[in-house]
Amino acid sequence: MKKIGIMTSGGDAPGMNAAVRSVARRAMSLGIEVCGINYGYAGLVAGDIFPMNRSDVGGIINRGGTKLYSARYPEFAQESGQLKGIEQLKKFGIEALVVVGGDGSYHGALRLTEHGYNAIGLPGTIDNDIPYTDFTIGFDTAVNTVVESIDKIRDTAASHERIFVIEVMGRGAGDIALWAGVASGADEIVVPEREFKVEDIAQDIRNLRSRGKKHTIIVLAEGVMHADEFMQKLKQYGDFDARSTVLGHVQRGGSPTARDRVLASKMGAYAVDLLNEGKGGIAIGIEDNQLTYHNILDLFDSKHKPDLSLYDINKSLAK
Ligand code: F6P
Repeated sequence: MKKIGIMTSGGDAPGMNAAVRSVARRAMSLGIEVCGINYGYAGLVAGDIFPMNRSDVGGIINRGGTKLYSARYPEFAQESGQLKGIEQLKKFGIEALVVVGGDGSYHGALRLTEHGYNAIGLPGTIDNDIPYTDFTIGFDTAVNTVVESIDKIRDTAASHERIFVIEVMGRGAGDIALWAGVASGADEIVVPEREFKVEDIAQDIRNLRSRGKKHTIIVLAEGVMHADEFMQKLKQYGDFDARSTVLGHVQRGGSPTARDRVLASKMGAYAVDLLNEGKGGIAIGIEDNQLTYHNILDLFDSKHKPDLSLYDINKSLAK
């Protein structure tokens, strides 16, 4: 293997830079040249590709976002897009590719492998919604950001004895809500993976109030419904003084936690080693604290499972 490419794709996630650094430095230490590809698959097709040296990835391990920029590029699902991308890979002499991103990015990696260019996916998304990995790069940082925000909202919630419905990201997955909910001592966690009745939540709130707890924190995963909609439904069951807060894109930013930096560093180096062994069409994961890899096709056939024990724990702790 003489030259590999590295790109970040889909929604950015804290720790992507650490992954890019790890891929580049591991490859260079093995005598493999590295090309950075800007803007994910869009940049690949456009030929926005440049040779990287060690200093290109210096001073980025602590930075949020992605130095290689990112884009969502559905056009790469078309064969014409893939062929253009391959033309560029040939032009730059890139033999294999590491893609850091979510499951959308894995489709592209699989297509490239089918066309003879080994590509490996690293799970980079705050949502933690990728099968065959316990954690994705960026998730830990996002959870910490959410916890910090909820701690602040709690101050005002307690001062005014209000209910706060706090909507967190996660796309269709409840992981951020589950982890941040437990870590911030939320009274209710509402996720798409567990059925719930707004009526029951209203009753829980009344029970808490009768025991002297006058403010309520409800952490709502965006995959369930909008915070405002949830709040309106809740108000149908009582004269509640409630407010809704959508944390939004603040959850995607910020300096990555040590956990995310370490995870990204481990996964990046592992991906290079696997490419060097001639492997492609696979995605890296971490399962039971061990680095693993699976065929990307297996990932498409299975569904990510959040740790729902957190939901049950929170139910008993919040009572
Ligand atoms: O996948 C990461 C994520 O932040 C999701 O949590 C969210 O649903 C989505 O991306 C938002 O995407 P965009 O930034 O394109 O609006």
